[in-house]
Amino acid sequence: MITDENLKELWSKFYTEHGFKKIDGYSIIPENDPTVLFTTAGMHPLVPYLLGEPHPSGNKIFDVQRCIRTNDIDSVGDDWHLTCFEMLGNWFLGKCPKEEMIKLSYEFLTSPDYLGLKKENLATTVFAGDETAPRDDETYNAWKNCGINQVFFLGKEDNWWALGGGVGPCGPDSEMFLDTGKPKCCEECSPACDCGKYVEIWNDVFMQYNVKGVGEQAQKLERPNIDTGMGLERTVAILNNAKSVYDTGCLKQVIDFINDHAKAGYKESEKATRYYRIITDHIRSSVFILGDIRGIVPSNVGQGYILRRFIRRAINCARYIGLDSSLFANIADLYVDKYGKYYDDIASKRNFIKDELLKEVDKFSKAIEEGHKEFEKVILGIEKHKQFALQKGETVENKISGKAVFRLYDTFGFPFELTKELAEERGYSVDEKEFEEKYKEHQEKSRQAAAGQFKGGLADSSKQSAYLHTATHLLLAALQNKYGKEVKQRGSNITPERLRFDFNLDHKMTKEELDEIEYFVNDAISKAIPVTCEILNLEEAKKSGAEGIFGNKYGQEVKVYTIGEISKEICGGPHAENTSNLHHFKIIKEESSSSGIRRIKAILD
Ligand code: SER
Repeated sequence: MITDENLKELWSKFYTEHGFKKIDGYSIIPENDPTVLFTTAGMHPLVPYLLGEPHPSGNKIFDVQRCIRTNDIDSVGDDWHLTCFEMLGNWFLGKCPKEEMIKLSYEFLTSPDYLGLKKENLATTVFAGDETAPRDDETYNAWKNCGINQVFFLGKEDNWWALGGGVGPCGPDSEMFLDTGKPKCCEECSPACDCGKYVEIWNDVFMQYNVKGVGEQAQKLERPNIDTGMGLERTVAILNNAKSVYDTGCLKQVIDFINDHAKAGYKESEKATRYYRIITDHIRSSVFILGDIRGIVPSNVGQGYILRRFIRRAINCARYIGLDSSLFANIADLYVDKYGKYYDDIASKRNFIKDELLKEVDKFSKAIEEGHKEFEKVILGIEKHKQFALQKGETVENKISGKAVFRLYDTFGFPFELTKELAEERGYSVDEKEFEEKYKEHQEKSRQAAAGQFKGGLADSSKQSAYLHTATHLLLAALQNKYGKEVKQRGSNITPERLRFDFNLDHKMTKEELDEIEYFVNDAISKAIPVTCEILNLEEAKKSGAEGIFGNKYGQEVKVYTIGEISKEICGGPHAENTSNLHHFKIIKEESSSSGIRRIKAILD
């Protein structure tokens, strides 16, 4: 039985012996990269070094990196997907013959001192070439020279690696698979199909290109690199012939714990298995996020929103299998016991992690209670409607509209299944189709909001909110004027009563500094400057020096709001027409939001 501890040790021993230096993994929240919420791969925090910066530890490095990938959230519950995992990574920064890195990968996989896999059971894939880059014969030959028989050429969709939005260092890759020995599913069966014959364990990426901006052509990097990454949990499971990632290590421990405390047993039904796994995965992700130095807590924006979603989803699953959600604190203990050994922040934040989990459980339970009352009102409404209809000789179906179901979901966090269940108990059906439509609309809005397309968390489009929104732009301009352009927006939330603005700054602001900021904004207000808006394509917007999150996240056309010479920002709006609409700006609070992030609350009076 190989454990994840063993695998980490072997990784460290092997790469140290081959002249690589160990570096510490980074925070799970990317620094200076507002385009994504979480660190998604080992290479992610290393982008500057992959683009040519010299690394202080030299050009051969390795680490273990905590990662969160939320794009797989809907697949969690199957055998292999996790939203959170540890990645074993190593890098050669600079030109290195591919054969050298391939040989190292091969040796690690097959040497009896390391993973001891049989080469006959390995398969690899290599980039087949297209207009961007040629066929990777060098890598193909390297594998063949190692004695691997099953080497497949595949296209860009399988053998090209780039960060989420396609911007940044990228290149052809070569993936390594274990051939499980299952029969081929068809004549063309290859690691590209998901029949389960081949399971991926490792990926060597030849970072030879860079994409500077959305939709731009990949350009050759002056100094190419090799980036390799192995998913820890998956590899451990495979090495132990386990059927899923939940059958080994700490994940198994948590599944067993739940099994001891829930009404429904693990594997009792397909649904129960899924719910067990979602809880196990999501609470681990939550522990990793809460246990990060950045001090994220559940909220309605950014990382806090994802965290809230993880916890609430786990609560819903717990409900279905009859598990008391307050036991999430015990599950967190199991994770902290384990990961606290590797990550100091997780160890030192044990109580914080548990408290925050329980607070969210409590909050959500209250929302659910409110939701029950609301549900009763919906039923009452339909009953009344039915009576009226009866008087007119018409009939009304016992059906709850998708709109009402969605409101229960959106405002009270009622999952669709819950409403459906309650409805059925009362002899009602629900309009699933309409709910789906509303849900899709909402998802699209959240996606855009998370992507920063509608900057600023503007909750409504009232005049007062629009004015506060303009005040937010002036506030950022004032802060940048005082502390420099490095000060960036890190969160914004606007209600018709006040604005709340988060930004990076390394100290608590003094009374004098706050006065200065207030003065700057009020000065702009008194100058009665028109607020103008133009639609530009992303490139033009960038060139114009507009503030904003650049990355794949924007559409091609963006709105740019300009306030005279003071401010220019990419933003969805709406805004005041003139700064004089704002009347008078007043800061009511300045406080810490999380480590290195300050928060200002202000009003217009
Ligand atoms: N960047 C690659 C991956 O995440 C290899 O490290 O798979």
